[in-house]
Amino acid sequence: MGQPQLRVLISEQQIQQRIQELGKQIAADYPEGPIYLVGILKGACIFLSDLARAIPKPVRLDFMGISSYGKGKSSSGEVKVTKDLDLSLEGMDILIVEDIVDTGVTLTYLTHLLDQRKPRSIKIAAMLDKPSRRLRPVEARYVGFSIPDEFVVGYGLDYAEDYRNLRDICILEG
Ligand code: IMP
Ligand code: MG
Repeated sequence: MGQPQLRVLISEQQIQQRIQELGKQIAADYPEGPIYLVGILKGACIFLSDLARAIPKPVRLDFMGISSYGKGKSSSGEVKVTKDLDLSLEGMDILIVEDIVDTGVTLTYLTHLLDQRKPRSIKIAAMLDKPSRRLRPVEARYVGFSIPDEFVVGYGLDYAEDYRNLRDICILEG
């Protein structure tokens, strides 16, 4: 076992170009504002920062802390709310902003939880999707990139809290 190796899967330029497209699409789909962007800490914070600025419409930001993974690469299967929202969602158009949809366990739990707060609509925007890993049926309305079953880091995504500040999305090998 040597040092972990990083291989670029999606470059900074590809990410930024895709986010501009997503921002325009989201703005066109929501005729009346504001759009409530609910970022899932911590992984989605960088995607949310870029996406919010790519949407040429009024948005409001809130954050929710969820922990489903320990320090490793595989899910513990448990979901826990570690920080709740500050804003009321009643009657609002909610866009959950997530870094990656993997098994779908986190987003299934979260969508049910937020649905009980009577928003007008709930949709999901995920930077990445690993459809081959799905255990629960989650449909993200907006997806940056679909990727194969590889463990990735960067652009908010971590391995044991490292690598979140990489500008590219990289495969962690080794
Ligand atoms: P799910 O509940 O299995 O869909 O897990 C979603 C969460 O798992 C994401 O928000 C990430 O924090 C984490 N995750 C899943 N795949 C990866 C990966 O390839 N790299 C880093 N984190 C990941
Ligand atoms: Mg995470």
